[in-house]
Amino acid sequence: MENKVTAIVNQKGGIGKTTTALNLGYALSEEGKRVLLIDFDPQASLSSALGIKADNKANIHTLMSAAIEEMETEGNYIISIKENLDLIPSTLDLAGIEMTLVNVMSRETILKSIIDEIKKDYDYVLIDCSPSLGTLTINALAACDSVIIPVTPEYLSAKGLGLLVRNINLIKKRINPGIEIDGILITMLNKRTNLSKEMVKAINESTGYIKNQYDLDIKVFDNMIPISVKAGEAILHRKSVIEYEPKNQVSSAYKSFAKEWGDTK
Ligand SMILES: Nc1ncnc2c1ncn2[C@@H]1O[C@H](COP(=O)(O)OP(=O)(O)OP(=O)(O)O)[C@@H](O)[C@H]1O
Ligand SMILES: [Mg+2]
Repeated sequence: MENKVTAIVNQKGGIGKTTTALNLGYALSEEGKRVLLIDFDPQASLSSALGIKADNKANIHTLMSAAIEEMETEGNYIISIKENLDLIPSTLDLAGIEMTLVNVMSRETILKSIIDEIKKDYDYVLIDCSPSLGTLTINALAACDSVIIPVTPEYLSAKGLGLLVRNINLIKKRINPGIEIDGILITMLNKRTNLSKEMVKAINESTGYIKNQYDLDIKVFDNMIPISVKAGEAILHRKSVIEYEPKNQVSSAYKSFAKEWGDTK
């Protein structure tokens, strides 16, 4: 087992983090890898995309609370979605944890303490982050080996990316020296603008800016995820796109991306 922990992160909202966590996880599980998805967003979009309502069950909030108190969590907090694919769900209660954490010692590494206990059972642990750079996301960055940064062509801004990289660098320096940026995944790409001159220019500008500011060569994955109404439809059916419409171009793109990413070391 590889036990690789990866955070899907971008402080910008609505750019495909949850869709990527779900479909990358699904694709890897189909390849026979054991995958744990962690919904680490109080919006609980990943849990609801899988039809899981965790209000009365053990979930990532109850796990975080127990870890803060150094207590054991009661109940089964890992939900089996399908063969090789598990989920730790989230609830709105997770939003309150940021306040609780303010007075907690080692508050940045609470999630890490939880994941370190369970990652041995998995090839991949994927953390779906909330759209912020607050304490929750810092916990995710402290707990992971690597990050994937999804971004839509519209928001491929050097500034937004720079802020994120700056935060990752701070975490690297202070808490988690091993953290790596696997790369940027372009999502919701309109076929007509596919690799247009403007896109290539925007990509080069952003990566050039990161190179200048942080002396860091950031990779942009070759596989890009096209835009399709099926992505939203799949969620309404409580399914990954890959399960809902296996032949859809979004499904193929996530499967190819899973292979490309799985090969990065
Ligand atoms: N490839 C795609 N084509 C079309 N729509 C998509 C695609 N990927 C995601 N979407 C839709 O875009 C919306 C935002 O996607 P998603 O929830 O994955 O983003 P997010 O970054 O997790 O958002 P948040 O920051 O709120 O957590 C959703 O309605 C989703 O169905
Ligand atoms: Mg999300």
